[in-house]
Amino acid sequence: MSILLSTQHLTMQFGGVVAVDDLNINIPKGEITALIGPNGAGKTTAFNVITGGYQPTNGRVIFDGAVIAENCPRSKMKRIYNGSYTEPFRHTVVNKSDVITRLGMARTFQNIRLFKDLTVFENVLIAKHCHIKAGLFAATFRLNRGEERAMSQDALSLLERVGLLESRNEKASSLPYGKQRRLEIARALATGPRLLLLDEPAAGMNPKETDELSQFIVDIKDSFGLTVFLIEHHMNLVMDISDSIYVLDYGKTIAYGTPAEVQNNERVIQAYLGVDEA
Ligand SMILES: Nc1ncnc2c1ncn2[C@@H]1O[C@H](COP(=O)(O)OP(=O)(O)OP(=O)(O)O)[C@@H](O)[C@H]1O
Ligand SMILES: [Mg+2]
Repeated sequence: MSILLSTQHLTMQFGGVVAVDDLNINIPKGEITALIGPNGAGKTTAFNVITGGYQPTNGRVIFDGAVIAENCPRSKMKRIYNGSYTEPFRHTVVNKSDVITRLGMARTFQNIRLFKDLTVFENVLIAKHCHIKAGLFAATFRLNRGEERAMSQDALSLLERVGLLESRNEKASSLPYGKQRRLEIARALATGPRLLLLDEPAAGMNPKETDELSQFIVDIKDSFGLTVFLIEHHMNLVMDISDSIYVLDYGKTIAYGTPAEVQNNERVIQAYLGVDEA
């Protein structure tokens, strides 16, 4: 089984708080891997480090065989470092998020980030445009008419594949919540990723929308040949579609396994006691 993304002793410390502590994950190509855990467990922080939003305090991120981030505690952090993994990594590798996107990683955010006053079509077009222009360096570069037309065509065919073609001229803000979430995923797909990271895609959805989303994630995974890394609080969705699950609590990995294994894990049950399912 080939691994698309892995982390080695990945640690992210903010001041004295170790938000992600010695995270070691392996995400196999073509599978759906979930990251779950109570509020504040460090899930979004893990995504932020993996996608280049933050430089890790210690540890390494490997994407498709290449080290895309690596760091060790320095200066003040060296003195206050509180991570469980104390062996510092030797090298520093930094890649900004736009570079990481171009390598084939795309994400959605816990709080929907759409251009609310633009149409569905424009939202996807802009995602494509930014992605292409960022790859061309020259800020002044303009696409010619043929290229613009090809890009519009691509955006429309993407909207068709995700079931939003009918809504293409509606303002993003006028869409029902479930469709806004789907549009956010379409924007991520517009950058042509191999790995799609979804941060609570079902947040705020009703049970029907959540069921539809489960099917949607499986469908796009298959039809776009994706690997999916998923943060989610809706346990039905996680248990239905995940191949394997990592469970975080206070930054630490407390369990890993198949949905059935994780569901029956005593530490997981304890961590979730008193935590309402969203
Ligand atoms: N930029 C930051 N600066 C300081 N502390 C932060 C920062 N980002 C996250 N944290 C802290 O890191 C911890 C983990 O937060 P994170 O958002 O990763 O949790 P989460 O598992 O995604 O939670 P939720 O399920 O509520 O989204 C929290 O204690 C949070 O306050
Ligand atoms: Mg979060």
